[in-house]
Amino acid sequence: MAAPRTAQILVASNRGPVSYALGEDGSLAARRGGGGLVSGLSAIGPDAGAVWVCAALGDGDREAARRAGSGHLDTADTGGQQVRMLDIAPDVFAAAYNGVANSVLWFVHHLLYQTPVEPVFDAGAAAQWAAYETYNAAFADALAQEAAEGAVVLVQDYHLALVPGLLRARRPDLRIGHFSHTPWAPPDYYRLLPDDVAEAVLRGILGGDRAAFLTERWATAFADCCAAVLGAEVVRDGGAGGAATAVRFEGRETRLGVHGLGADAEFLRERSHAADVDERLNALRTQIGAGRKTIVRVDRTELSKNIVRGLLAYRRLLETHPEWREHVVHLAFAYPSRQDLAVYRDYTARVQAVADEINAEFGTPGWQPVALHVKDDFARSLAAYRLADVALVNPIRDGMNLVAKEVPVVSERGCALVLSREAGACAELGEDALVVNPYDVEGTAAALHEALRMSDADRADRTKRLAAAATALPPQKWFLAQLQALEA
Ligand code: G6P
Repeated sequence: MAAPRTAQILVASNRGPVSYALGEDGSLAARRGGGGLVSGLSAIGPDAGAVWVCAALGDGDREAARRAGSGHLDTADTGGQQVRMLDIAPDVFAAAYNGVANSVLWFVHHLLYQTPVEPVFDAGAAAQWAAYETYNAAFADALAQEAAEGAVVLVQDYHLALVPGLLRARRPDLRIGHFSHTPWAPPDYYRLLPDDVAEAVLRGILGGDRAAFLTERWATAFADCCAAVLGAEVVRDGGAGGAATAVRFEGRETRLGVHGLGADAEFLRERSHAADVDERLNALRTQIGAGRKTIVRVDRTELSKNIVRGLLAYRRLLETHPEWREHVVHLAFAYPSRQDLAVYRDYTARVQAVADEINAEFGTPGWQPVALHVKDDFARSLAAYRLADVALVNPIRDGMNLVAKEVPVVSERGCALVLSREAGACAELGEDALVVNPYDVEGTAAALHEALRMSDADRADRTKRLAAAATALPPQKWFLAQLQALEA
């Protein structure tokens, strides 16, 4: 049965709000995810006529999508949300998600290539690009089918860069916005992409009425790419030199927006005092040992998060400031991510190896300098936030980085934030953080030292201001702001 065209608000993202595990007996177990979009959408409530379109990621998801036919998932699994999960052919999905989105677009926007040897755009890459087009077209088809006349569509991220243009061609009546959760590459780096791909991605996003970003820096980079690659006209606030506010191309105008997603203070404060978090807190305290300071990091094991240089900086701290030996523990949580990609598996092994080296070199019978945890555990992350004296957030480049915003909200005694200037969050938190160049291990070690010896009063003051800045635009307001901007 084809879904009727009734949705007034649509969200499209690769990863949906629920995932399914397939049991040996054929049963399906649903697991609901979190994140900014899930809580953002809750702002409009279940009766707003919203539909979320996402991709089936694994076998369980595919089975659930098939059982739902061309309709929606069982709302008992989704917390009441109407969800259409697309069962895209596995080879097409893998080429689009792993091959293009995560290995090319992600790499370009985070400046991750080792350019002497990569990228190599050959015939195989061209085939993957064709799969990315097919995958984007499947989303555009589903959205076109679900959307009511004049509906608002919020398309998320680099996986779906072509969707705004494809959807406009199918349904010119819709109001379409695209939101990038990543940074945007500067033009010279962006042009590593094959010319046709570089053009298609920009044209795709410019197919929308609005293109929105987490910071002004990424919005400006996008506009600069439109000018450099397409020869598009960039409209600026107060003339040349001002912030880019729109891009004009081929007779249409796409407005630019900036919505700096913030932490959800209410949720975090409550969730971080649940019994399971208390339990983890006690276990971590035992592991750390009494009277020691803690440097906390929590990340996906993601190339852009710069976990290895973070560990190297910690090692330099122990070398250059031996007074910290025995008196500090680095709690490093590095949770599995994108393990289908060899480079992520290698990186995960490297993180483990460097942590082991530091422990072998400096550890004593009563002190383990690095406590590395690699099994994803949200409750334990919150426990670490609570006891953090220092938070280390040193990405090579990051759209925002919510950990930087969450730790100051949850930390009990206030935490000093060592923050990369290349994280989007630095635009809002930079004044009260210790800002580092993420490639500068020596400088990061010095910042860790300064953070550890910061006075209690200074730390408390800064934490108060960090928490206020971090929670300025919580997910629900962030979501509503985008909706209102599109409806305006
Ligand atoms: C980034 C992206 C998100 C993505 C997340 C996890 O934050 O901006 O769109 O959901 O990484 O990546 P994954 O590949 O596991 O969905």
